[in-house]
Amino acid sequence: MSPPRERTGYKIRRGSGKAKRKSGVADARIIDGRALAGDLRQRVAETAGRLRERHNFVPGLATILVGDDPASHSYVRSKRNACAAAGLAAFDRSLPADTPEAALIAEVGRLNADDQVDAILVQLPLPAQIDAHRVITAIDPQKDVDGFHPLNVGRLWTGLPALVPCTPQGCLMLIRSVRPDLAGAEAVILGRSNIVGRPMAALLLAADCTVTAVHSKTREAAAIARRADILVAAVGRPALVGAGWVKPGAVVVDAGITAISAPDGRTRLVGDVDFAAVRAVAGAMTPVPGGVGPMTIACLVRNTVLAACRRRGLADPPPI
Ligand code: GUN
Repeated sequence: MSPPRERTGYKIRRGSGKAKRKSGVADARIIDGRALAGDLRQRVAETAGRLRERHNFVPGLATILVGDDPASHSYVRSKRNACAAAGLAAFDRSLPADTPEAALIAEVGRLNADDQVDAILVQLPLPAQIDAHRVITAIDPQKDVDGFHPLNVGRLWTGLPALVPCTPQGCLMLIRSVRPDLAGAEAVILGRSNIVGRPMAALLLAADCTVTAVHSKTREAAAIARRADILVAAVGRPALVGAGWVKPGAVVVDAGITAISAPDGRTRLVGDVDFAAVRAVAGAMTPVPGGVGPMTIACLVRNTVLAACRRRGLADPPPI
């Protein structure tokens, strides 16, 4: 991959209408993640209400946050608030940055044993003294709301019912909102993280796409990306994806969120995609913010309700 380039300022126009480019070709349709996420959260809230009335329980999410990273605090707060807004119970564990791994695993064990807790989320990244893999494997797979436990990863890749990671699940919803039938589509994923890239590959493969994963050792990354009907960027390098990386008419989903300091001293979130440049080439694309982020949270709320139903042997909530 080539080094990141300076990004230009841009204005996001929301809605499904298309503006005309100078060339007379329409600008990319902007996929409104906030609207889609709001709709999903509303439907999940209705399901939670029915569960309360008919089965007399409230699904509960426990979040564990270790340390003082401001971005992690903000993400966890948003997740807890979204659960509370959907009528779910939220349990909050905040641990100091120097928490030993054994203490964190013991906390996970207590939440595994707590019947009010249906879903457990340990916010990543964790401090250096803690092995995230050991912590994730300590979570009861039935409560593994992130879908990071090896059992859920294996179930996803083998086509069995699983708890599926929230960000790629949200990306797939965004893609399907503009392209419902994905069979035979060329999909290229930039990034191979366990949180986004790898599960995204599994989901797009299951949707009958031809899938390529591009990573730091890939040669000719831009040329491969340019083949994609569906391009998902999840690298964390601001404005990596320029117009030359995008096939005309492609669906481009930007899952790469980086917080940068603006000249006015404020922090703002930027994606992996050079929005202004790519907008003139893509058929549809997500903005940052307002694209993948809200969908991740909505899918977490749904995963919490899904985990609660499966743990009790109830039917899954309606499909997303
Ligand atoms: N850190 C960044 N994204 C995620 C996520 O989806 N889940 C958890 N647990 N931590 C994260």
